[in-house]
Amino acid sequence: MSGAAREDAPGGGRYGEAVFRPEQAGEGERIDFGALAYDDTTMARLRALGVGPGWHCLDLGAGTGTVSRRLLEEAGVTSVLAVDRDVRFLSARPVPGLDVLEADITAPDAVPGVFSLVHARFVLMHLPERDRLITALAELVAPGGVLVLSDAVDLTSDRTPRTPYSAVMRAMWQGLRATIGTDVSWVPSYPHLLRGAGLGSVAAEIHVPPLLPGSPISRFWADTWERSRAAMLATGLVDDAAVDEAIRYLGSDECAALSAGMLTVWGWKPEEGP
Ligand SMILES: C[S@@+](CC[C@H](N)C(=O)[O-])C[C@H]1O[C@@H](n2cnc3c(N)ncnc32)[C@H](O)[C@@H]1O
Repeated sequence: MSGAAREDAPGGGRYGEAVFRPEQAGEGERIDFGALAYDDTTMARLRALGVGPGWHCLDLGAGTGTVSRRLLEEAGVTSVLAVDRDVRFLSARPVPGLDVLEADITAPDAVPGVFSLVHARFVLMHLPERDRLITALAELVAPGGVLVLSDAVDLTSDRTPRTPYSAVMRAMWQGLRATIGTDVSWVPSYPHLLRGAGLGSVAAEIHVPPLLPGSPISRFWADTWERSRAAMLATGLVDDAAVDEAIRYLGSDECAALSAGMLTVWGWKPEEGP
């Protein structure tokens, strides 16, 4: 992977250091709640793209490895290299065909080789290097292979009713941006960025999981708010009581909010000429 170098967030922090530390109790469960909310959609898209036997796959920022393992066990791919800056969750659940690499994907040449599928979900949005990384990730796709990126899209607008949920969500995005450089405003431009990276037949789709009390996505947001509470309070947009109220709202029948969606974008590397 060339052309990528670490850039600092405004606050100088990084994912996994300033917030979302893997060593903090419950971090694996938080990632698993997100996976439960989105894995079926991800797998349906990957299967529709033809991912299956004979494919060599790269899963970047693989987290607890739910997608990596389902690629092997359900889609029957030949191999998966799962990469993460911290591989404690990946190493805890090995399966045949799964190789694990601990690496910072923003480092130049962090990942060796080329792959028929390069996949990264909920990773690039957290990395300030995201625009240059897209070019670097496209270089990891073998001719005839596909790059698939999924990240969050914020669906609130100026007309979104003020609720405890909307205030806390706004504070979360602002706080994460200031602390570690998370920026979901880029995500809708991924199709153009993939095209600009030389990929073809680019397309995208969005999935919004229903925010029902007790659902995996509701539990994911409640956990995520707890873990980013300090970053949210530092924005001055909310206080502790507002965060507590939003967590109660999320778990109640009053909740009538729209979750952030997951935008999935893919593009194909042209086959090599004769
Ligand atoms: C929100 S989790 C998503 C996990 C998984 N892709 C999923 O969707 O379930 C983000 C993952 O990216 C990893 N990550 C963040 N920054 C990284 C970096 N610079 N290099 C490698 N992995 C990174 C984190 O350790 C974490 O496991």
